[in-house]
Amino acid sequence: MKPYVFISRKLPENVIAILKEKYTVEMWDREDVPVPYDVFLQEARKADALLTMLSEPVNEEVLEAGGKLKIIANMAVGYDNVDVETAKRLGITVTNTPEVLNDSTADLTFALVLAAARRMVEAAEFVKKGNWKSWSPLLLAGQDVHHKTIGIVGMGNIGKTVAKRAAGFDMEILYHNRSRKPDAEQELGAQYVSFDELLERSDFVVCLTPLTEETRNLFNRNAFQKMKGKAVFVNASRGPVVNEHDLYEALKAGEIAAAGLDVFAEEPIGEDHPLLELKNVVAMPHIGSASIETRYAMMQLCVENIDLVLSGKKPKTPVE
Ligand code: DGY
Repeated sequence: MKPYVFISRKLPENVIAILKEKYTVEMWDREDVPVPYDVFLQEARKADALLTMLSEPVNEEVLEAGGKLKIIANMAVGYDNVDVETAKRLGITVTNTPEVLNDSTADLTFALVLAAARRMVEAAEFVKKGNWKSWSPLLLAGQDVHHKTIGIVGMGNIGKTVAKRAAGFDMEILYHNRSRKPDAEQELGAQYVSFDELLERSDFVVCLTPLTEETRNLFNRNAFQKMKGKAVFVNASRGPVVNEHDLYEALKAGEIAAAGLDVFAEEPIGEDHPLLELKNVVAMPHIGSASIETRYAMMQLCVENIDLVLSGKKPKTPVE
């Protein structure tokens, strides 16, 4: 019997063709709606490989479901939706999609910096609603980005790629990370500082840290209060790293100037969420890596990892 691969979201046929030649492949047939958990669990019982999205909880129940699973190929660089410890215990390989999304995610992150600072979404709405009656000296004036200080929390590969963009804007670059990054320091002049110093000195605080038990709720009232009054906060990592209630209060009270958010505690965020009422919030639907080229590269990498593991070989990008 051929190994069974289940793909938790509808992917283009040309990407999965190589899997179909060798394996039995089933796919959830919707692109816009996640597979219901009971269907996912049912599929996990039969599967040798699961190609999953960040919307699927790959928990102990799923991992233990059928006793046949060999690989979880998660189509994201983040893998907080996967119980990696249990997978390790059960000898199931977990893979993610690092590197291929660095540039696209850094582009979107920097776009949020610019959009929030220069009030771009607010300005675009203003024009479309017919509110533009005349040019005026301070009409929708925002803040400069160039020559300011950016503080990057989480200096992984995406963080470094954002730092490169910041260097092109002549920014001073601060970073905070679990470990020092000598390459970023030498090549980009990034300075390693404590979390508190970063909050106090940065005009732009950019969160790119993965979600772990240590980073959950990292950006809370205490953190926002340490930021400059004109600070712009950008989150392109995971929603639960931020306490959204505290962020709302800080924005509302003018303790910080604006926020650019690609991720939320609950996704999709409800349209009645208080953060969405605020003019100084630029909100995106978790599209950091969403260029067509990059999303294809991510799918391709998942497919290659599955094929390698099911052929008894080492995957390209295992989560260690
Ligand atoms: C990731 O890869 O972790 C992003 O959040 C989704 O593209």
